[in-house]
Amino acid sequence: MSELDLEGYLTESLAAVASAERVAELDAIESQSKAKNSPLIAARRALGSISDETQRKERGRDIQHISDALLSAISLRREALAANEREAWLLEDALDLTEVVTSKVVFPSTRGHAHVVAQTRASLEEVFVSMGFSIEEGPEVETDWYNFEALNLPPGHPARDMYDTMYLDLGNAETVLMRTHTSPMQIHLLEAAVAKNALPIHAAIPGRCYRLDTPDARHLPVFHQVEGLVVDKGITFGDLAGVIETFTAAYFGPDIHSRLRPAYFPFTEPSAEFEITCTICRGEGCRTCSKTGWIELGGCGMIDPAVFDAVGIDSAEWSGFAFGFGIDRCAQMRHSIADMRALIENDVRFSRQF
Ligand code: DAH
Repeated sequence: MSELDLEGYLTESLAAVASAERVAELDAIESQSKAKNSPLIAARRALGSISDETQRKERGRDIQHISDALLSAISLRREALAANEREAWLLEDALDLTEVVTSKVVFPSTRGHAHVVAQTRASLEEVFVSMGFSIEEGPEVETDWYNFEALNLPPGHPARDMYDTMYLDLGNAETVLMRTHTSPMQIHLLEAAVAKNALPIHAAIPGRCYRLDTPDARHLPVFHQVEGLVVDKGITFGDLAGVIETFTAAYFGPDIHSRLRPAYFPFTEPSAEFEITCTICRGEGCRTCSKTGWIELGGCGMIDPAVFDAVGIDSAEWSGFAFGFGIDRCAQMRHSIADMRALIENDVRFSRQF
């Protein structure tokens, strides 16, 4: 076969490749080019009859070029057709997931909101900010010194029995613990104020606390408190009583009052328990308040000079008061939640009510 015929074969084949619509057609062109009767194969076979070596090699190279050109055109076209075919197949196979909504409200979408305890904490913070307190936060993991000793609760002190403590397996035995109350923040803030010479302090410190208590209607092993700390010159018990009463009316409403009853806490002297009008019976007397009309909310008192001594503050110059009460208990009283365990059960039928 002459050289011209081979060129003609290439032109024809390239045209066939370009117009092929399916991969199968390309497969056919490729296998024809390799078949016995293909002009390319015939030309290769005829190489042996060219006696001049230089001419033979040249002819061999030409045949190879033509074969390469054809195969690479086939391969390019095959790629393009394969992509088209795949796309068509995908389109054909696609599922129509459009949903036709037949009734107006199929699933009413509901927006989430803050948990009732988080809401309570935020409202308490607002009340304290409006009374001129700053809001502070502190660590939940404490050392024995901050949680007990600096608060005038040395090792072996009987009042430690009030706090069933979760200890961490860190350092010496029973030295690192989950704070049992927010009162250790009194020590952190007093220390910081001494270091920065930044007294007076008017701070409210909300946060999570831990005790090894079995959950029941009024206790959770993980609960929240808010601590109050005021240190200034000439602070009296009257200031403390006034702050508690102002807070009570601001948070629970004007018909709810507070009263202080003598109590004992190692870090305050004198100490008091503060009670508020029972929010269930509004003071009439009911089962929740054991017919007294009052519900205990927390503890308070004038800062014991031993606490000032522990951080190096002169108690002849400075005086102050502190208080601490349960945020969860506030939520319980304000919303009449019979059983505190509902706060941690994550039942949306409960939580969406607030
Ligand atoms: N930390 C105490 C407790 O959890 C409550 C308390 C009592 C806090 C008296 C105070 C206070 O700041 O002065 O049992």
